[in-house]
Amino acid sequence: MNNLTKEQLESILENIDLSKAPSAEDETMRQYWYIKKAREYVSSISEKIGRKLTCNTVTFGCQMNARDSEKLVGILELIGYEELDDEHADFVIYNTCTVRENANQRVYGRLGFLHSLKKKNPHMMIGLCGCMMQETHVVEKLKKSYRFVDLIFGTHNIYKFAELLVTRFESNRMVIDIWKDTDKIVENLPSERKFSFKSGVNIMFGCNNFCSYCIVPYVRGRERSRNPIDIIREIEQLVADGVVEIMLLGQNVNSYGKNLDNPITFAQLLREIEKIEGLKRIRFMTSHPKDLSDELIEVMAKSKKICSHLHLPVQSGSSAILEKMNRHYTKEQYLNLVEKIRKAIPDISLTTDIIVGFPGETEEDFLDTMDLVEKVRYDSAFTFIYSRRTGTPAAAMEEQIPEDVIKDRFDRLLDRVQKISREMSARYTGTVQQVLVEEMNTQDESMVTGRMSNNLLVHFPGDASMIGNLYQVSLEECKGFYYIGKIA
Ligand code: SAH
Ligand code: SF4
Ligand code: F3S
Repeated sequence: MNNLTKEQLESILENIDLSKAPSAEDETMRQYWYIKKAREYVSSISEKIGRKLTCNTVTFGCQMNARDSEKLVGILELIGYEELDDEHADFVIYNTCTVRENANQRVYGRLGFLHSLKKKNPHMMIGLCGCMMQETHVVEKLKKSYRFVDLIFGTHNIYKFAELLVTRFESNRMVIDIWKDTDKIVENLPSERKFSFKSGVNIMFGCNNFCSYCIVPYVRGRERSRNPIDIIREIEQLVADGVVEIMLLGQNVNSYGKNLDNPITFAQLLREIEKIEGLKRIRFMTSHPKDLSDELIEVMAKSKKICSHLHLPVQSGSSAILEKMNRHYTKEQYLNLVEKIRKAIPDISLTTDIIVGFPGETEEDFLDTMDLVEKVRYDSAFTFIYSRRTGTPAAAMEEQIPEDVIKDRFDRLLDRVQKISREMSARYTGTVQQVLVEEMNTQDESMVTGRMSNNLLVHFPGDASMIGNLYQVSLEECKGFYYIGKIA
C-alpha cells in the first residue's frame, strides 16, 4: 500500500548498484541506495537468527506525526521488517510530541519499559524521533541517562531514516542526527498507509506564526509548502490505490502556497484537488482564523467533496489574552468570521481548540471564553490546560496561573463545552447522511462504524465488506457524541 506500488519500489531497488557510491545529486535515489543497504543488514541478521525481524512504531501527538510514522513504516517494510502492534519487537521507534509537558513525560515513562525489553532481546534497537528530539535539553538528557537508545533523529531529516539506520548497523554507538531547520522537501519515498481508503497528505511543513505559548515553530521549523503538482500527483496515486478520502495537513493550511515560486492560495489548491476523479471526500487541518479567506469560504460552500467540517482553533475568547498569545485576531473578529462561515455554509460543523490558564488570564478573561463558547456553540472542542514550554515567550511571562485556579476553570469550561456539544450533535437525528465505513464496530460484530462528512461517528448494521465504501445512512438515535443508524 505504497503510493508507489510494490513492483515499482522493487524495480527501483533492483536498478541500484551497491558497489557504487550512493547518488550525490538525487536525494531520493540516495535514500533508496540506503534502503537496499539496510535490507542487506536486516536479511543477514534474519538468516542468523532464523526468523524475520520485527518493528513497532508508536506515534504521539498530531496528524503530522501520524503521517510521518506512515513514512517510517513504509521504509521499514521495504527494508524487510515485519510490523508488530506492540513493543515486543526487534526495532521500536517512538515518534514523539512535545506540544504539552504531559506528552513529553509519557515518553520518558515508557522508555524505562523499553529498556527492560531490550535487556531480554539482544537484537533489539530503540529509535526516537519527532518533535521532542528537536529540543536540545531532551537530547542532552537522553545522552546522559538513556544510553541504551540506538538512534535519535528529528523532524527535518526523517527522509534519511534508512541512511541513519545503516550508520547504526555499521557502528556500535548511539547515532544522533538533529537538524535545526531545513528548506528541503524530499518527494517519492515509500509510505505505508494505516487505512486503505483514507490518507493524510502533507501540503506544507513547519509554522511561521509563533503563537507565544507554542513550541511547534521551534521544533518543526519555518513554513515550507509543497509544490501543487507534487500534491496532486500524490493524491492521484492514492486514489488509484483505493483512497476515497484525504486529509490535507499543515499547521496553518490557510497560508499554503504563499512562499512558492509561483504562489497559489489554499483555495486554488482545493479547486484543483476537487477535480481529481474518484476522490470522494476532502478534509483539511488546521485553519488559523487570521488567514481564513472569503475565497476559501466560497470554495467550501460550492464544493461537492470538501467535508462539512471546519476546525477553527480559537484558543481564548478574551481579546487581551489573544493579543498576548500573538494570535492576530480579537474575540469580535472571530465571532464575525464564524457568522460569515455559517451564513455561507449553514450546516457546517465547527470545532475548536481552547487553552485555559494562559499567563495573566483573569476570571474576566475566562468568562469571555465561556461567553464565546455560548455564542459559537461548537460541535466539539478540545480543551487544554496551558503547559509552559521552555523557550517560548509565554514561558517567561509573569503571572503564571496557580494550578487550582486553572483546574476550576478547566472543569467549568469542559462541562459547558460537552453539554453544548451533545446538543449540537443531536441536531441530525432523523436525517439521512452519507457515511464512510471505517471499521468493524469494536463492541458488536454485527455492526460497522463510519464517519459522516461533519466528522461524527455512526454505528450501524453491516459487515467487513463495507469498509472503505460510502453509504446513505438514516440516523435513528443520538447517543451523545455518536449515532446509531441503519442503511437508508
Ligand atoms: N497549528 C495548529 C495547532 C497545533 S497544536 C493551530 O494553530 O491550530 C494543537 C493545539 O495544542 C493548539 O491548537 C493549542 O490549543 C494546543 N497547545 C499548543 N501549545 C500549547 C501549550 N503550550 N499549552 C497548552 N496547549 C497548547
Ligand atoms: Fe503553534 Fe500557532 Fe503555529 Fe498552530 S499556528 S502550530 S498554535 S504557533
Ligand atoms: Fe506534537 Fe509536533 Fe504535532 S509537538 S502536536 S507532534 S507538530
